[in-house]
Amino acid sequence: MPEDLVAADIRVAKTLPSKFYYDKSIFDSLLSVFSGWQYAAHDSELEANAIVPLNHIESITGEPTIIVKGNEVECLSNICTHRGMRLISQPCNKSTLQCEYHGRTFALEGNMKRMPEFEQAIGFPSESDNLHKFAIDTWKGLHFISQEDTQQLPWAELNERFEFLDIESYVHDPTRDRDHSIAANWMLYVDNYLEGFHIPFVHPELNQTLDYSGYSTEVFEGGVLQIGKASEGDVKFDLPETHPDFGQEIAAYYLWLFPNMMFNFYPWGLSLNIVIPVSSEETRVLYRGYVKDATLAEKGAGSILDTVEIQDQNIIEEVHKSMHSKVYDRGRYSPTREQGVHHFHRIISKIYEQMF
Ligand code: FES
Ligand SMILES: [Fe+2]
Repeated sequence: MPEDLVAADIRVAKTLPSKFYYDKSIFDSLLSVFSGWQYAAHDSELEANAIVPLNHIESITGEPTIIVKGNEVECLSNICTHRGMRLISQPCNKSTLQCEYHGRTFALEGNMKRMPEFEQAIGFPSESDNLHKFAIDTWKGLHFISQEDTQQLPWAELNERFEFLDIESYVHDPTRDRDHSIAANWMLYVDNYLEGFHIPFVHPELNQTLDYSGYSTEVFEGGVLQIGKASEGDVKFDLPETHPDFGQEIAAYYLWLFPNMMFNFYPWGLSLNIVIPVSSEETRVLYRGYVKDATLAEKGAGSILDTVEIQDQNIIEEVHKSMHSKVYDRGRYSPTREQGVHHFHRIISKIYEQMF
C-alpha cells in the first residue's frame, strides 16, 4: 500500500505540500468539499414567514439558495422552476413566493401553487415544478444545509460539552458582523485557526487572558475542538456540576467543523466565522455574532476579537506569500500543539488522494 501523503502518526508526519495552497487545479478540485454541510442561519435571524437569501452559501458553492421559515424551516433553491429567474434578492417576510418574471407562485414549503397561462400544458404541474429542497439540519437553533448526501454532522460528539449552553436563545447582533478579505488561500486560514501554538507569539493581548499551559485540542470525525483556559480572575464559563469540564476555568470553546465553519463560544455568546474560498490566493471570512449576555463581552478572550483577527490575517498573508518559495515545501507538526492542523491535513490529503 502506498504511504499516506500526510502520515497518521503526527510524530513523523509532514505538513501538506505548499502547492496545496496556491495551485489552481488543486483549489478547484477541493471546492467539492464545500457542497456538504454549511452553516446557514440562526433562529434569531428568522422571524415568522421570513425568506432570506443565503448569499454566503451562493458565494461558497455557486448555488442560489434561500432559507424560509413557514411551518418549518426549509432551505430551497432561489431559482424559479419556469425559466430560471432568481426569486428573492433581499430578505423579506411573505406568506408565498412569487416570481417577478411571469408570476409563478410557490408556497413557503416550496410547492408550486399557481402559474398563469399554463392551463393547456400537459403533465403540469409535476414534482420538478416545485422548488428544489436542500437537506437541513438544526442543532440548538443553528441551521445547516447540505447540497449532497453526506455524513451527518457530529452532534453526538458535541452534545455533552454544549448542552449547558442555550444557544437557541442567543440573539443575532449585526454590529458584531464582519466581512474580511484576505490575500491568502482558505486552507491557511483554517490551519491557523486549528492551533493555539501561535498565541504567545502572535496575540500578546489574548495571551494575557488565556492560560496557555492549559490550552487543549481534541480531534474527532469532521471537526476539532480547542479549549482555552482562562487566566486567573478572567471571564469564564459557569459550568454545571455534570459538565465534563466542571472545575476548570474555561474562557472559550473553539469548535471547527469541516471544512470552513468556526464556532467560538465565549461566556458572552457565540462568534462564528465562515470561511469563503474566493480563489487559490484569496479568501473571505464572514463573522456573525450571537449574544447571550453582552455585559460579559468586555473582558477576557472574547473581548478582543478584532485585534486578534487582524493579527491572524497579517500572519496568514505572509505565510501565503512563502508558499511560492522554491526551497520551502513541507514542514513538520508539533505533536503536542498541532494535532488540529494535522487532523485537517489528513482529511484534505485523503480527499485529494481519492480524486487522483
Ligand atoms: S421565470 Fe419565474 S415565472 Fe417565469
Ligand atoms: Fe490566532
